[in-house]
Amino acid sequence: MLVLGIETSCDETAAAVLKDGKDLLSNIISDQIEVHSKYGGVVPELAGRAHIEQIHKVIQQALEQADVELSDIDLIAVTRGPGLIPSLLVGLNMAKGISYSSGIPMIAVNHLEGHLLAIFLQENLTFPYLALGVSGGHTDLYRVSDFGDYKLLGRSRDDAAGEAFDKVAKMLGLGYPGGPLIDKMAQKGNPEAIAFPRAWLEKGSLDFSFSGLKTSVRNLIEKRRRELNNFSDEDISASFQSAVVEVLVKKLLRAIEQTGLERIVVTGGVAANSGLRTGMKDAAIQNNFQVYFPKPIFCTDNAAMIACAGYHCAKKEPSRVTSPLDIDAKASLPL
Ligand code: KG4
Ligand code: ZN
Repeated sequence: MLVLGIETSCDETAAAVLKDGKDLLSNIISDQIEVHSKYGGVVPELAGRAHIEQIHKVIQQALEQADVELSDIDLIAVTRGPGLIPSLLVGLNMAKGISYSSGIPMIAVNHLEGHLLAIFLQENLTFPYLALGVSGGHTDLYRVSDFGDYKLLGRSRDDAAGEAFDKVAKMLGLGYPGGPLIDKMAQKGNPEAIAFPRAWLEKGSLDFSFSGLKTSVRNLIEKRRRELNNFSDEDISASFQSAVVEVLVKKLLRAIEQTGLERIVVTGGVAANSGLRTGMKDAAIQNNFQVYFPKPIFCTDNAAMIACAGYHCAKKEPSRVTSPLDIDAKASLPL
């Protein structure tokens, strides 16, 4: 079975062809860093326009690289939400158009579902497992019991982890997207140079909060401007990153204790972070749990994960395969 995945929820125009849920024949991703970098963040209107310019090309390339024709495709999987409406509409309307004109059935996929199931591109994981989805828009902890069966256990009450990375990078004038830039800078700094606050919230809570940490970094940078300290960008990055990683690791340990689940998937853009990957792997060895990370290219936004989620969910729940005219884009779309 050949699935064409299409993803345009934010600032990546992506298409992929996946065979039988596992065999990735192509995975094309066109980013918009050039479009948004001068604004220090994603401008939704510009993102939508850039998707319109790229979407035909990206889908064409995905088919060509996979060496298949559109008529070979059995199912189109497309992101319906959550995300930016001007972005989502481009991928979704393209999928609807192809589906309507060719008769190929389609399935709408929740972007977060794509992140939670991306690991199936690499592993045949056994359910249930705990999934920590850390991205630019979300910091969510789920119990994943089956394809299509997700229970939210905790979430950020304010900024998402990736948002905090992006904002701190902006404060330091590093550019956009901030996560990878902080990651690189942190490797040259001392993670213990500055004791930034960690928000544990009330006893037993699996929720997260990163706004206090962000404010604390802002205050420190402000003081540096007034020459009240001279911490380097490297030390600030390393200390900030280590605060985020410590909270994510300890909350996950708390979740393991509460649920008894010992298989963990860490996914979403921030899961590409080298400090988080090392911190989680060390914690897994010390505390006897198994941690799985999608490859970095499957952590940040991509269409392979959408094709993968679409394939498995269509098999598990055929009623999710719908007429293309029944689906609309949703800016917020809980799982
Ligand atoms: O999953 P994703 O590509 O898009 C959303 O669904 O939001 O995640 C993007 C987020 C951005 O905030 C970006 O800065 C962050 O993931 N990110 C990273 C790294 N790579 C991407 N954060 C920390 N370290 C990284 N290496
Ligand atoms: Zn994402």
